Amino acid sequence: ELTHTINLDSEIEHVRSKSKALFLQELGFAIHLGVPVVKISLTKKVNTQLGRLINEKFVSGFGSSFWITVPMVHPSQYSPICTDDEKEDSWEWWNDFRTYCNYDKHLGLVLELPDIKHIPLKNEIDRWIGEPVKALIIPTSYFLLNNHGKPVLPRAHQELIQRFLAIDVQYIIKSDSEGDLSVYTKYLHFLGKKLYVSEVNLEFVQGCEDFLQNPLQPLTEHLETNIYEVFEKDQIKYTTYQNAIQKALEDVPKEVAVPVIMVVGAGRGPLVQAALNVSYILHRKIKVYAVEKNPYAINTLIDRVQNEWNGQVTLINEDMRVYEPPEKADILVSELLGSFGDNELSPECLDGAQRFLKRSGVSIPCSYTSYLAPLQSIKIFNEIRNNRPADKTLRTCYETPYVIHLVNYYQIAPAQTLFKFEHPNWSDVINNESIHPETYTHEMVSWFPIVFPLQEPMKVQAGSIIEISFWRVENPDKVWYEWCLEAPMKGCIMNPNGRSYFIKKH
Ligand SMILES: C[S@@+](CC[C@H](N)C(=O)[O-])C[C@H]1O[C@@H](n2cnc3c(N)ncnc32)[C@H](O)[C@@H]1O
Repeated sequence: ELTHTINLDSEIEHVRSKSKALFLQELGFAIHLGVPVVKISLTKKVNTQLGRLINEKFVSGFGSSFWITVPMVHPSQYSPICTDDEKEDSWEWWNDFRTYCNYDKHLGLVLELPDIKHIPLKNEIDRWIGEPVKALIIPTSYFLLNNHGKPVLPRAHQELIQRFLAIDVQYIIKSDSEGDLSVYTKYLHFLGKKLYVSEVNLEFVQGCEDFLQNPLQPLTEHLETNIYEVFEKDQIKYTTYQNAIQKALEDVPKEVAVPVIMVVGAGRGPLVQAALNVSYILHRKIKVYAVEKNPYAINTLIDRVQNEWNGQVTLINEDMRVYEPPEKADILVSELLGSFGDNELSPECLDGAQRFLKRSGVSIPCSYTSYLAPLQSIKIFNEIRNNRPADKTLRTCYETPYVIHLVNYYQIAPAQTLFKFEHPNWSDVINNESIHPETYTHEMVSWFPIVFPLQEPMKVQAGSIIEISFWRVENPDKVWYEWCLEAPMKGCIMNPNGRSYFIKKH
């Protein structure tokens, strides 16, 4: 930790020059020791010289990280003698500072916890969660003694700390007196275990937090068996499908002696199983077709037809857009959805497959909608710009969407609907390019969100409007999205003509 009195931005010349000498001396010693992190506090709004010197270190290959300490809530926020104009926002200090340093990934944030009377509002905490917070500073004076005489934190502090557990923070115990602090660290260790509740409480998503994944293209690239295995772990999805199939089958008139259910894009067969379960539950005979174009997944289906399904299912190893069935279906079941709803070309596939749905037939799903929300995340911004594959330009990286299990991010505003598709769609000319958005919020369960990057970070004032134009475009070979920022400032149109990212139709 660098000396607190270092003030590179002092208005007094000799303080500045002494500070600079001390700063360079201490930094030199840090380099000598090979410490991984140098911690320095921001104590005021203007930190231009400090930013300049640290940025200079970054660009000249300084190997260690800098952790910048600010109070989570600046005391002026609740001081009775400060007017609104005099109130300082420590997030703004941090934001200015990291902007000087071009959002360098070696810049971390350390937050001093406020006392119990000044815990920030949820929205402010959310904004901090989107930052690269590395540690929380907790003064020993915040601890109370429990019945056993051991230090514990009051509930409000526990709840505050709980919010930061997902982004894996460390704790710095600050004590005015010398002495053994292990009793505090033991308590915090215990607290971490007690409070940590994984948001998506499923083992298979752990370890991929904020990791960039390229969206799948199951239409043109055959999925591997381990990917099907991941799908199949999402039991809620299949239960929901089964309930929907049951409702749809109950609605098929009794005159239809053996209703036909076609599962299009059957994968390894979980939706076929769901259809057969419904037949069993309702004591109603059905005929099932499983259409799957992946020749490798078909092997599993062949095995299941023989060993589990008693020959009750007809397998078709074809693309649903060209398959010519011998009869029409009462119920068409599919799961062709990507993180952005239509981004695995469910609309194109189902528009092709609805030829074999009776006019009275039902498609499950009968509609799906994509949603868009603005978010900020320096972690993801840096992941994108620092991990450019050798065969791609940086522009390509910014013009590509990523599927991400988002953790270290801040959603700035509620999501709004973007594109909505309905099936079957019996209109003469099917236009899948867009539908007017309306406001909605949505909680994602089975799919990680998809992130469309912007190239430059941009400061948005609270209350201002963020407006995006978004297009879904297609030609005979591919579908792609283009997007651009309209407000608070105009941006260039990203991914024109699908030059960086597109979804192949064939
Ligand atoms: C997201 S997976 C779902 C698989 C399975 N229904 C499940 O829930 O586990 C989509 C499946 O649809 C298949 N598929 C995609 N487009 C297809 C098409 N045009 N014709 C036939 N199968 C298709 C893919 O190969 C993949 O197996």
